[in-house]
Amino acid sequence: MKRSFYVTTPIYYVNDLPHIGHAYSTVAADAFARYHRLSGDDVFFLTGTDEHGQKVAKAAAAKGLDPQTHVDRMVAPFKELWQRYSISNDDFIRTTEDRHRVVVQEIFQRLFDQGDIYKGVYEGWYCIHEETFWPESQLKDKNCPECGRPVELIQEESYYFKTSKYQERLLKYIDANPDFVRPDVRRNEVVSYLKSGIQDVAISRTTFAWGVPVPFAEGHIVYVWFDALINYLTGIGYLQDDERFKKFWPPVHIIGKDIIKFHAVIWPSMLFALGLALPKTIVATGFWTLGDQKISKSRGKVIDPNQLADELGVDAVRYFLLREVPLGQDGEFTHTGLVRRVNADLANDFGNLLHRTLPMIGRYREGVVPLAVPEPRKAAALAESAAEVIANFKADMEALDARGALTEIWRLLAVANKFIDSTQPWNLYKEGRNDELDEVLWGLAETIRLVALMTAPFMPTTADKIFEQLGLDAKPADQPYEDYLVWGKLTGQLKSRPGAPLFPRVELEPEE
Ligand code: MSP
Repeated sequence: MKRSFYVTTPIYYVNDLPHIGHAYSTVAADAFARYHRLSGDDVFFLTGTDEHGQKVAKAAAAKGLDPQTHVDRMVAPFKELWQRYSISNDDFIRTTEDRHRVVVQEIFQRLFDQGDIYKGVYEGWYCIHEETFWPESQLKDKNCPECGRPVELIQEESYYFKTSKYQERLLKYIDANPDFVRPDVRRNEVVSYLKSGIQDVAISRTTFAWGVPVPFAEGHIVYVWFDALINYLTGIGYLQDDERFKKFWPPVHIIGKDIIKFHAVIWPSMLFALGLALPKTIVATGFWTLGDQKISKSRGKVIDPNQLADELGVDAVRYFLLREVPLGQDGEFTHTGLVRRVNADLANDFGNLLHRTLPMIGRYREGVVPLAVPEPRKAAALAESAAEVIANFKADMEALDARGALTEIWRLLAVANKFIDSTQPWNLYKEGRNDELDEVLWGLAETIRLVALMTAPFMPTTADKIFEQLGLDAKPADQPYEDYLVWGKLTGQLKSRPGAPLFPRVELEPEE
């Protein structure tokens, strides 16, 4: 039976241009989506933009634009960036779309009708930047405890959602499903938050108008987070395409650690109220920091993903983001760190294997990859390492551990590079030991094919080029893992087509 895999990114606020932090969660989700497609699963990968709320309205006003014109303009740089970054999303959802508005309104109405939403008055603090209500007791030095910015006092009539009703049930669920929130540090945070006793959340606003109107209450618009979380339902056809919805629900959410409470407390409570299954898992990534501060446009600390791609190429940046730090941890972003890793891992380890092997096939075998060897003797150890790495790679990717998977692939690259040194194909050639030479060259070419297949989720364009250089007419996408991520599938006398180096070394600026 085919498995279904539904993966999502956060939907990004369109108050400003996308930066490297946004690219991070999107590239991670893309790698998992691609891995599952290659594994033969039915995949749906959703990303999009969060277009309502005070923060976006404020950004529009600052430019003298009406909010709709502003969001229509701002969505373009996101879509363009994802295209440039080889993001293979199946849909792109915007919260200002009709298909989304109707679902938000229907859910609001339904939860109201069943008594999960009630009317009250909100009196307390609000952080526009985080789009979060804060009780006075949680403020830090009178500022937003999350971002440190000033908060504003608001008092307005508001509808509330009975989050508190689901507190116990959610605690039990998390206890019974330890992988529901990852990594552990975030699960513990959520558990202690739940245990401290949670309040019902205000889910409508009346003091500005940029949002989905509450269907039955004039003057109320839906709170931006209540609206935004529902994108995960709309995007997969909830209430609109039953077949698709049934096939793919529940999702895997990739988010940032800053928005864990919305995803692991409010969102599951909404799903309980709707009688829907909770997400399979919520993976909270850490932050990229610059000088220990979170990279964010409003802090004036940005890394422009387009500029990085201009300098190093998209695949190198994708690789770095997922290789440098484990998904849950923070990472300091430095240009030197990026260039060093690209040089060491891509130009050296990966590049060397490719750019030593193909020219040898050129020199000693007129560019023709020798035929598969039925019983490898010299390459037996290589075959064994490959089998082990493939098994670990799969286990890591299933567990959403991208860094672990990449580390495994690089283990195989190291073994293969050593294999060249120890077998010394140039001597085999000189001494006319043709069978052994064929076996060594074939073993290396086969390793390169397997490495390309495993790196395809991370560096899709590079993987395509490697297949091309090996002389394969197929693309990695035509070689599903079940049948092809197996040692010994490189057959036929391929005419290799060596090309330009895939990863040229990058010079560091003198002051780096
Ligand atoms: N719109 C909400 C999400 C709604 S999801 C139903 C939102 N948007 S955001 O644009 O402000 O940020 C979205 C995500 O971007 C963060 O959760 C995080 O995943 C990512 N990042 C933003 N800055 C980041 C870093 N400096 N480093 C890593 N990722 C960070 O929150």
